[in-house]
Amino acid sequence: KDVSEESLRSPICCIMGHVDAGKTKLLDRIRGTNLQEGEAGGITQQIGATYFPAENIRERTKEIISHVDHAKLKVPGLLVIDTPGHESFSKLRSHGSDLCDIAILVVDIMHGLERQTIESLNLLKMRNTDFIVALNKVDRLYGWKTCRHTQMKEAIEQQSKDVRNEFRMRLDQIITQFKEQGLNTDLYYSKGNIRERYSIVPTSAITGEGIPELLWLILAQWTRKNKVEKPTYSDQVQVEVVEGLGTTIDVVLVNGVLHGGDRIVVCGKQGPIVTTIRSLLTPHPMKELRVEGTYLHHKEIKAVQGIKITAQGLEHASTATGLYVVRPQDDLEEIEEKAMEDHMKSVMSRSTEKSGGEGVCVQASTLGSSEALLDFLKTPEVNIPVS
Ligand code: GTP
Ligand code: NA
Ligand code: MG
Repeated sequence: KDVSEESLRSPICCIMGHVDAGKTKLLDRIRGTNLQEGEAGGITQQIGATYFPAENIRERTKEIISHVDHAKLKVPGLLVIDTPGHESFSKLRSHGSDLCDIAILVVDIMHGLERQTIESLNLLKMRNTDFIVALNKVDRLYGWKTCRHTQMKEAIEQQSKDVRNEFRMRLDQIITQFKEQGLNTDLYYSKGNIRERYSIVPTSAITGEGIPELLWLILAQWTRKNKVEKPTYSDQVQVEVVEGLGTTIDVVLVNGVLHGGDRIVVCGKQGPIVTTIRSLLTPHPMKELRVEGTYLHHKEIKAVQGIKITAQGLEHASTATGLYVVRPQDDLEEIEEKAMEDHMKSVMSRSTEKSGGEGVCVQASTLGSSEALLDFLKTPEVNIPVS
């Protein structure tokens, strides 16, 4: 059945991998931004979301991928979620992978599969999520010559024999490492049934090589699945206060529609928070939700989107939990219980642990970061009490 592009749901694509593999830098390259250099220690500490309209992706891929009919890629856009690769943030990674329909697993070609690559891989396997491997930092191969405006396949063919040999050697090692994890992978342009393997796209976040192919493959793979809208469901990923707007939360709307004036329930530090959406804001397309700036106001928003919600009483909302919409026929108490269940138990038990009131004081910019930090301080190797 032919469906209109508007009725299709945009895929949510999670970008995962070991710390410093280049996840944020790849996104920076696609957006034309420079978030990565502004991060503390160059480490991503929260989940970020960026919406790319399909039109924009077509525009970017047209030149490189000219042999296909781009109109066939029927999606309104792509919501990309950036996740932290540092070992302390496994909860955020797991939450990110919960949300996504498809993923990009970033592997540093100089390092191969690392600890959090494998952790990410296991999350994806567990949820049966399709993914594409970005074999990043190809520009670091000794003697790599940048070839702009060409497909990666040709860019590799144009390299010197030494570079091609090193590339092949590292690629083969990485394919073997994937095999050890029980997965069949190969270069995206190599022959064979693409349904029976995971594609590897060599990329460079510095030169931009391989990125059009990566974007195109994500959309093509999603179009094949051709998913249509599911019932209302949304999920909250981040809480933060934005000056001048009062308290806001950042959410990822996975399915359905949110309206201004909707009654919502979110999980809070001191119990469920029942409130009413005052405004629905989105960043401009191609801009990151976690970057402050000007926002677009909406009366209603259809999935998929990264959204900033303003409402009263959100000061103590908890991150990485669901957000529930209360419809007139719903039992509010039941929804309140649901909102509290998933996440609060673990947070509360952690913070009420007895430290005798002595220990370090923990301060972080977001609740997600503070949770990661609290977890880290508790690990046996570290074991630092928190006052
Ligand atoms: P976390 O979010 O902290 O897990 O890291 P990340 O995966 O987002 O990596 P990030 O984008 O912070 O990049 C880490 C470092 O690698 C930065 O110094 C980047 O400039 C560098 N880098 C990323 N991609 C490339 C690439 O393709 N080539 C080269 N040469 N350097 C890169
Ligand atoms: Na980093
Ligand atoms: Mg990052």
